Amino acid sequence: MPHPLRVAVVGAGVAGLATARELRREALDVVVFEKSDHLGGMWRYDPRNDSDPVGSDPNRDVVHTSLYRSLRTNLPRQLMGFLDYPFPDREGGDPRRFPGHEEVLWFLNRFADEFGLRGLIRFGSEVVRVERVGDSWVVESRTRDDSFSREIFQAVVVCTGHFTEPRLPTIPGIEKWPGYQIHSHNYRVPEPFRGQIVVVIGFAASAFDISRDIAKVAKEVHIATRSADVKVMKLANHSNIWQHKMVKCVSEDSMVAFDDGSSVYADVIFYCTGYKYHYPFLETNGIVTIEDNRVGPLYKHVFPPALAPWLSFVGIPEKIDYCNWLAAKSGLPPLEEWREEMYLDSFKRIFGMQDNYRDQWDDAHRNATIKDASLQQNVI
Ligand SMILES: Cc1cc2nc3c(=O)[nH]c(=O)nc-3n(C[C@H](O)[C@H](O)[C@H](O)COP(=O)(O)OP(=O)(O)OC[C@H]3O[C@@H](n4cnc5c(N)ncnc54)[C@H](O)[C@@H]3O)c2cc1C
Ligand SMILES: *[C@@H]1O[C@H](CO)[C@@H](O)[C@H](O)[C@H]1NC(C)=O
Ligand SMILES: *[C@@H]1O[C@H](CO)[C@@H](O)[C@H](O)[C@H]1NC(C)=O
Repeated sequence: MPHPLRVAVVGAGVAGLATARELRREALDVVVFEKSDHLGGMWRYDPRNDSDPVGSDPNRDVVHTSLYRSLRTNLPRQLMGFLDYPFPDREGGDPRRFPGHEEVLWFLNRFADEFGLRGLIRFGSEVVRVERVGDSWVVESRTRDDSFSREIFQAVVVCTGHFTEPRLPTIPGIEKWPGYQIHSHNYRVPEPFRGQIVVVIGFAASAFDISRDIAKVAKEVHIATRSADVKVMKLANHSNIWQHKMVKCVSEDSMVAFDDGSSVYADVIFYCTGYKYHYPFLETNGIVTIEDNRVGPLYKHVFPPALAPWLSFVGIPEKIDYCNWLAAKSGLPPLEEWREEMYLDSFKRIFGMQDNYRDQWDDAHRNATIKDASLQQNVI
């Protein structure tokens, strides 16, 4: 029998676990490198934060996760399982449609055990270099005790996530602004913001959650968003949260001025402005280029054509249309309509800025995942 291909999977989060399972199904020889001592990636809460709160120092100590302690999922659990391995209710668990983060970590551990994936993972092994040499890849990794190893693999799948490296906007005057700046990657608990006046920049799920979390202890929270139709106003049901248009400029007297003409003297600027792609270990002689908000060229967000199938990226896109394309290519039926509706509905709710959007949802779809048990494809 020919020797099975050796494949290196980098990262043991959702993407790495699903990838390892599929590759094992094809009887390939799989090694999963995981720099931490745990599986679950982003879903493992860590109370620590980076040594640089905005993440601009390339030599800072980096904590992988961006979870905050109060985080609940922003998608319903029905959309967070695998098609053939749904996210179950468990006795003594968190039964909510949008569960707390601990429940997701529990689910991923169960998934790994169910399919025997734990034994494939080399914990405490950080990939520091992946380089194309001849027809193979040389994968260099570093363990906790700083010993290095170099190994040959035929293929590499990059599953390192893309919610760790902060992206910052440029704000006129920021070099002289004297307050404290922090990116949402480093947010854990509200306590450090007690009594402060905080400007939160951003309009997606983190800005929504964090502004409400902080408002419990902060003096004032001002949310600056890019949306064109925003008027300055206090939010309904909150005594200390305001919304504004984008930040226009800041000045050395602590002032933050907004595009709508309003301004505040603030203690903190809080960036909920998203993340950059970052694969510092990857050396492809320029075949794959990594810019802040783009990895390319990639065929359908997975394979760089010149290196396919020997290098791939799993977990880059989040679009319904794309999932349907992928399902069609794999000979599967398109996603059921209820999934698409539920997905779009979730986004409407987040952007509708309705407090408690997670708990106001009728349960018509509650048992819908059961009927998918026969499908054989992972879509997250
Ligand atoms: C605040 C926040 C809320 C979110 N909420 C939701 C939600 O409600 N629902 C949802 O579906 N998604 C949500 N997401 C997206 C979430 O990131 C994905 O669900 C999922 O965790 C992505 O999995 P991944 O495997 O691609 O990456 P990660 O989970 O980030 O895993 C990557 C793994 O790679 C490891 N790693 C990194 N570099 C190396 C290296 N060089 N060598 C070895 N190992 C390495 C890391 O230690 C980590 O374990 C949220 C993200 C954030 C930031
Ligand atoms: C980051 O961690 C330090 C050290 O534990 C802590 O003092 C600080 O309050 C944390 N910052 C935030 C924003 O949580
Ligand atoms: C304000 O609270 C009321 C009553 O709880 C609720 O119906 C309404 O949706 C809330 N408004 C927002 C914008 O969250």
